[in-house]
Amino acid sequence: MALLEVENITLTFRGLAALMDVGFSVEEGSITSLIGPNGAGKTSMLNCISGRYTPDSGRITLDGQDLLAMPAHRRTTIGLSRTFQNIALFKGLSVLDNLMVGRHGRLDYGLFAALLYWGPARRAEDRHRRRAEDIIDFLNLSPWRHQAAGRLPYGVQKRVELGRALAAEPKLILLDEPMAGMNLEETEDMARYILDIRDEWGATVLLVEHDMGVVMDLSDQVVVLDFGSVLAHGTPERVRTDPAVVSAYLGAEDAAFAGR
Ligand SMILES: Nc1ncnc2c1ncn2[C@@H]1O[C@H](COP(=O)(O)OP(=O)(O)OP(=O)(O)O)[C@@H](O)[C@H]1O
Ligand SMILES: [Mg+2]
Repeated sequence: MALLEVENITLTFRGLAALMDVGFSVEEGSITSLIGPNGAGKTSMLNCISGRYTPDSGRITLDGQDLLAMPAHRRTTIGLSRTFQNIALFKGLSVLDNLMVGRHGRLDYGLFAALLYWGPARRAEDRHRRRAEDIIDFLNLSPWRHQAAGRLPYGVQKRVELGRALAAEPKLILLDEPMAGMNLEETEDMARYILDIRDEWGATVLLVEHDMGVVMDLSDQVVVLDFGSVLAHGTPERVRTDPAVVSAYLGAEDAAFAGR
């Protein structure tokens, strides 16, 4: 069984369909990319999975559990986390504190329980801090650990956001254009981090990305959206030679597919 199953998802905004009968699956342990021209519905799809948007119809399951029946915070506790197309960090908090906040869904003790059971809560806190420290090491964030996230260079903020998503111990991590606005070196670093998140941190990755070189290099499977519908789904090799995909991209972007 696939880790994530998306079936017949339709989402409309005031009568306009952003997603129409979308279905695809994400295998456990894979890096699966969701691509398509601007406005194709990629972010809307991630929003349906994470709980920011509620689709009009359809079904989404993570590990067999019905996500649409759960509020967004509950989806975090069962193993879902994400980054945003526009960076969403607590700008005034330090890097370390942003990572600790990222673990919120994993906090085993509420505030009152923490007061009553100081010992266990304290041990949980230590465990959270250790995980945050491991992530700081992994993403090479130690020079900025105590600095306010909002003041860091853009590429570093993108990394902190990745770390915040990773802090929640996700089974599935949704990444919305993690390379956007990065230079070549930063893009290569980010690609390496994404591979390691799958290989060393054991998370399955659903990636939205415009950089076709990155998508073709990293992905096990690619899902192509166009005008809110799935145009193709398969290996990078199959998708990039799919005639429907080639013509959609020839009309839209820089013919990245046809050229490679
Ligand atoms: N909150 C919203 N209210 C109204 N329309 C929306 C909303 N969110 C998305 N849409 C519309 O849904 C469609 C898909 O948008 P979406 O942001 O999902 O595209 P995308 O594939 O992520 O594009 P991009 O590559 O530019 O990020 C667009 O027509 C967009 O205007
Ligand atoms: Mg988007």
